[in-house]
Amino acid sequence: MQKNITARYPSNIALVKYWGKYGNQLPCNPSVSLTLQKAFTETKLRISEKREKGTAVAFFFEGKPKKDFGERMLRFLKAQPEFAGLLTNFSIVVDTHNSFPHSAGIASSASAFAAITAAFLKASQTEITDFKQKASSLARLGSGSACRSFYGPFSLWGKLTEIQGSSDQFAVPLLDIHPDFRSMRDTILIVEDAPKKVSSSAGHALMNNHPYADARFKDAVKHCGELISALKHGDFSSFISITEREALSLHAMMMTSKEYYLLMRPQTVQIIEQVFQFRQETQLPLCFTLDAGSSVHLLYPASIQEQVQGFWANGTDKGIKSFIEDESGLGGMII
Ligand code: PMV
Repeated sequence: MQKNITARYPSNIALVKYWGKYGNQLPCNPSVSLTLQKAFTETKLRISEKREKGTAVAFFFEGKPKKDFGERMLRFLKAQPEFAGLLTNFSIVVDTHNSFPHSAGIASSASAFAAITAAFLKASQTEITDFKQKASSLARLGSGSACRSFYGPFSLWGKLTEIQGSSDQFAVPLLDIHPDFRSMRDTILIVEDAPKKVSSSAGHALMNNHPYADARFKDAVKHCGELISALKHGDFSSFISITEREALSLHAMMMTSKEYYLLMRPQTVQIIEQVFQFRQETQLPLCFTLDAGSSVHLLYPASIQEQVQGFWANGTDKGIKSFIEDESGLGGMII
């Protein structure tokens, strides 16, 4: 017997950032994200009868074995009772590909954990009433941000009084979205192609006893409520101020932690200044966000795509190494 399952799940970019965690991967504050479409991970499982004793899972990343990636994935899979039957009884080859290059300013752990979780959950054939919710809560245990990749174009992770059914355990879709926010673009300007200097786990840990932690967590709760309202009412002005302030707050936390660090590069700051200038000159709703890296995500509605292209197309002026043009998506699927 041989069975194949392929899962394709996208990455997402946080607008209100998750930064700081406790317990078993629970967030210190709620977060809201935009689900991407073109930046995805495809994970294929080849499942066959197992003859040997012990776990038999082989991991391939972009066609090659990758030790650290395989070890992290296996640790995650073994920790989930839901996957115990599969791991005990079958031999599994896991083949993973990303649609985007490594170190491109896109959270590969979000799409990778979403895809592997969905594939294993599908393969485990347990009775599940809400597949997405279950997958979201399991994927969260691999990488917090992964739990938001199951819904789109916007999702919320973390308990927020305004949103019924929201939870720290899994993400929920944000359903009340104004038409103007239903087709957002994210153009990622990559200014440096080096791998991450500080892992996000180390970054989250630096929020423990951070002098500004309490104020940051309160601010994020407030921002989630305000952003959800902006998305509902088509209010770009609030969307822009919350999103940009969130990006800078995330980096401010890094810069003011006990072991401080700085991920922005001179080109990052230059592009941010140019976004401000572009907005002032054109009054068009272009804004930026940052992930835990130096790349700049330009966020804007599809309706102003042409004007925004004019802004970044002369990339060499801005010191851009490369770029990725992505847009909002509705989450992943088993294909
Ligand atoms: O999911 P993690 O543990 O890689 O953390 C993600 C943290 C940020 O990308 C910086 C913010 C977020 O909410 O995605």
